[in-house]
Amino acid sequence: MASQYQDIYNQWKHDPEAFWMRAADQIDWFTAPQTCFNGNGNASGQWFPDAATNTCYNAVDRHVLAGRGDQAALIYDSPITDQAYQISYAELLDEVETLAAVLAKRGISKGDRVIIYMPMVPEAVIAMLAVARLGAIHSVVFGGFAPAELAIRINDATPKAMITASCGIEPSRVIPYKPLLDQAIEDATHKPDLCLILQRPQITATLIEGRDLDYKVAMTEARAAGLKQDCVPVAATDPLYILYTSGTTGQPKGVVRDNGGHMVALMWTMDHIYGVEPGDVFWAASDVGWVVGHSYICYAPLLFGCSSVIYEGKPVGTPDAGSFWRVISSYNVKVLFTAPTAFRAIRKVDPKGDLINAYDMSGFKALFLAGERTDPDTLHWAEDKLNVPVIDHWWQTETGWTIAGNTLGCGLVDVPAGSSGRPMPGYDVQVLDDGGHPVDAGTLGNIVVKLPLPPSCLPTLWGANERFREAYLDTFPGYYMTSDAGIIDADGNVFIMARTDDIINVAGHRLSTGGMEEVITSHADIAECAVVGAADQLKGQLPVGFYVINDGVDKTAEALEAELIQLVRSQIGAVAAFKTAVAVKRLPKTRSGKVLRGTMQKIIDGEPYNMPATIDDPAILDEITEALNARGLVK
Ligand code: COA
Ligand code: AMP
Repeated sequence: MASQYQDIYNQWKHDPEAFWMRAADQIDWFTAPQTCFNGNGNASGQWFPDAATNTCYNAVDRHVLAGRGDQAALIYDSPITDQAYQISYAELLDEVETLAAVLAKRGISKGDRVIIYMPMVPEAVIAMLAVARLGAIHSVVFGGFAPAELAIRINDATPKAMITASCGIEPSRVIPYKPLLDQAIEDATHKPDLCLILQRPQITATLIEGRDLDYKVAMTEARAAGLKQDCVPVAATDPLYILYTSGTTGQPKGVVRDNGGHMVALMWTMDHIYGVEPGDVFWAASDVGWVVGHSYICYAPLLFGCSSVIYEGKPVGTPDAGSFWRVISSYNVKVLFTAPTAFRAIRKVDPKGDLINAYDMSGFKALFLAGERTDPDTLHWAEDKLNVPVIDHWWQTETGWTIAGNTLGCGLVDVPAGSSGRPMPGYDVQVLDDGGHPVDAGTLGNIVVKLPLPPSCLPTLWGANERFREAYLDTFPGYYMTSDAGIIDADGNVFIMARTDDIINVAGHRLSTGGMEEVITSHADIAECAVVGAADQLKGQLPVGFYVINDGVDKTAEALEAELIQLVRSQIGAVAAFKTAVAVKRLPKTRSGKVLRGTMQKIIDGEPYNMPATIDDPAILDEITEALNARGLVK
């Protein structure tokens, strides 16, 4: 069909308030909004400031009331534990109203924070919804983070309760979560009152009397006592969740998401961007610990009345590179959303895509990719093998939904490979030079969004208004700074090329090299270090550390490297994928002392570089090249 994208974008541009008020009709409000937007209430404004609602009501209760009770809400497929079952909307309602009652009985109420540290099991989504039902605020922490990272989040969010499981399961090992949780609570200055532990058959966690509660026992007792918790009305502007994401220091940023604007934007995306209908099966192959998991495993599919797949496995190796096709055909998945790295992993093992032929994929209509740039090679491979539209779309934890993409539901526009598409309604995307001046079409610069940001975007950082302004609003007054660099071509296609800060993207996971440097320099034998993101065929980027050893240290480089790798793993987590640390005599710096990380990255990637004019001692770049060559690390 001819694309209506431009008409819809123009409708928004012509009258943004009418556009979003119309979109707000898709939500059930306890008090309907009269005002669309209040620009003064917060740094970036408040959406639907006079409305009241509840996100859990919209995601669960209203579908049961409307007769969708027997439809699958969650489809759990876990090749890693060899289990699969479905939870209908009626069953999901029973689960969330019971769990919310368990939490309420222990004193959790509106505005309290609850940290959820869970593997990919349905209870993770049930926990998010139960917290939302109470008007409390969840903060999900990805299971691959180490106790030190969890402790930072505990101190920042000061949760009254934590919900976890006895273990997570990776292909190579079972990871006991409870010791990690206990360690984090011990390290944190803030202590939660309650920890709810889901015991999984693979490992039984030891519970601490007075603080820990067995999830299943508590649920059974609540059911026996007939306890159920109703939805608590909250202001549309009240926080639904805090999601921590990497910033430029070791202190992560607590991105705040509101209730009303978030629902309005996500509802709009399901038919317009993803082209699905209520009742369809939607699968985001991500993790609830990431923003993609929040928006498209939990909230958007349920708000819209779809069935959402929760997949506990990997694209390859659980058991093979055909798992995605098996899941798509078993449940008649209409739309899959994942990161390009998953497709690179599948292609590596099954380059011809032979395993696809074993499955009936006739119900599959589109693949959406995000989290990192989709390289044209991967895009063409997926298009060729799957024979459906493959759509790259760009977004951030901060927005919770697409900034630039393509609207399957309104007809696709032509987007060149390598571009993540056109700006979505709500986003006036522009490219500025470092002085804040607009650049010509096709010129590389800082990608910014003209304020105000659309619904769902962060109103602030948790407890850190000043940091919010500094990080996003101060550099280019009147604009939100995305910290992505790229170009917009003459047709309006957005190309995201690189981060302008020290964030790297490893297997679609956003990681701070500054955070890793903080950990490495905390080692007693290290004088200084730099971490850069080296190009990697599978994961997009991988961190590589360069370190200078203190004088007088009597250890081999091999021994120190092993210690540093272990340190990053224990302080940040396995997810950092930090596996290479190179000893160097000196780090290359400018005369003002700034480490030339960009140049080091070009050396390791085998890219040409210009000698920085301000370099203190050019010979250091030769030393770096030599050290890398000695390890065979230059591409
Ligand atoms: N709990 C504990 N550890 C975890 C974990 C979790 N939930 N998830 C990952 N890890 C560990 C892994 O076991 C691995 O440990 P190792 O160094 O001992 O091998 C490490 O963290 C790195 O994990 P990952 O980067 O995921 O690499 P992988 O080799 O396990 O898998 C991919 C590679 C490409 C298959 C996988 O990253 C993937 O499917 N990514 C795409 C989907 C996605 O989640 N994108 C995020 C945003 S959309
Ligand atoms: P996260 O907040 O973890 O979702 O990471 C957001 C960052 O990932 C963005 O700022 C980009 O750098 C990168 N990113 C996400 N999606 C894309 C995409 N489709 N194309 C290019 N980069 C992307």
